[in-house]
Amino acid sequence: MVIIRKPLALVAGGFFAIMINMTPTIFIIFGVTGDLAGRKLLPSLLNLYVNKHLPAKFAIVGFSRRNFSREEFRQFIREHMKVVPGQYHEEDIKHFLDHMYYEQGLFDTPASYANLASRLQILDDGFHQCSNKLFHLAVAPSFYETILEYLSKSGLTIPCAGEEGWTRVLVEKPFGNDSDTARKLDKRLGELFDETQIFRIDHYLAKEALQNILIFRFNNTIFEPLWNYEHIEAVHIRLMEKNGIEGRGGFYDDVGALKDVGQNHILQMLALIAMEPPEAFDAVSIRKQRAKLISKIKPLNSKKLEEAVVRGQYEGYSSEKGVKRNSQTETYFRLETYIDTLRWKNVPFYLESGKAMAESKSEINIYFKGNDKQNILTFRIQPDEGIKIKFFVKTPGFGMVTEPKTMKFKYSDSPAFHELPDAYERVLYDAITGDQTLFTSTDEVLAAWKFITSVLSAWDRIPLKIYKKGSSTCH
Ligand code: BG6
Repeated sequence: MVIIRKPLALVAGGFFAIMINMTPTIFIIFGVTGDLAGRKLLPSLLNLYVNKHLPAKFAIVGFSRRNFSREEFRQFIREHMKVVPGQYHEEDIKHFLDHMYYEQGLFDTPASYANLASRLQILDDGFHQCSNKLFHLAVAPSFYETILEYLSKSGLTIPCAGEEGWTRVLVEKPFGNDSDTARKLDKRLGELFDETQIFRIDHYLAKEALQNILIFRFNNTIFEPLWNYEHIEAVHIRLMEKNGIEGRGGFYDDVGALKDVGQNHILQMLALIAMEPPEAFDAVSIRKQRAKLISKIKPLNSKKLEEAVVRGQYEGYSSEKGVKRNSQTETYFRLETYIDTLRWKNVPFYLESGKAMAESKSEINIYFKGNDKQNILTFRIQPDEGIKIKFFVKTPGFGMVTEPKTMKFKYSDSPAFHELPDAYERVLYDAITGDQTLFTSTDEVLAAWKFITSVLSAWDRIPLKIYKKGSSTCH
């Protein structure tokens, strides 16, 4: 095969104004018929395509057990892909679907991988070039090891043209089920792939408002001197969702809120708020500091556990589809924890998340010390992304009365707001460009599991509280 080396092209546009390597790229999605592919991956790829942020030559190959002809597959994807009606021109959707191919196969059958390899070869022949291959594991975690193993054995992960045709693997969360399983999976992954090929997704890291935390902290000198136990009284990190489990009972009931969003999204928010400054603003330095911080979260000792933890389940959860009738799985948790560093001596960090709550809201509140007048700095992650500070002023007029006011930055006021990429678009884009900053490293994942496993070790001793749907918290 003739390998044509193409130059790098500059992609126009605000958020994506960086170099994208124009080597043809193939996305291979395992579990393409699943919920995640329909809700996030395919709509994100479509949007990247429509906005010309994908390499000009690309293909998407869906791999799954179901039997489809190519036409049936495209028809299925058209219906499966959650896009707002009227958001795109039908022509654009049609052209996007023209890039889609299907490979029916079983995850544990070598012949399926051989068929996949032939399919990829045919596509490369059509491109007249060895393409980049991005293998995305959008499947239940119980399939990870099998797929990784067969991918590696089949030789599919060996780049076909050195630097020019890379292969990468995107792994979804949950990454493991506790410290032991995560370590085992990570070890296996490390044996099969180089760390630079592994992209472990935590899509919260790719949220714009989360990326801003480090910029805000380390570019505004007025805050850094106050960013410690002498001035901060408490930190409250919340990820609340109005929705319940939305038909994902079969998956969710084995996982629960702590592992579903606590082990990953919430600990990553905590890491960004509390970590030490990175040596440089690059993937290696930032990931190193995030990991270091997560490793300093104090394991809850079992004696304090019952005081420090609330576990809840929304009313009606146990009659949802796919959920065990007497399920003890939590849909809500609240943890009080501490960080074992001088900076954060005795500062409580409250971590809270729940489904079927009064409103959907992810935010981080930093409560500064102050008796009756407390300054509060809020990072609103979503919706209504922004940053605000509560402070006090003199009420205009006679007398010396004070009143609280807020200063706000709202993303929606920014001219670039309409261009903000969805977190999954960012994840996919960065995986193509090879930037690992917004992906979790081995050290982060293992440190996060170490802490969560300490909580889980006494989880069943904590009484499960039933809360009404639409509650703002659970007591
Ligand atoms: C996922 C969890 O990782 O994050 C879901 O599995 C949760 O249960 C989701 O709803 C929240 O993400 P977002 O981007 O909708 O806030």
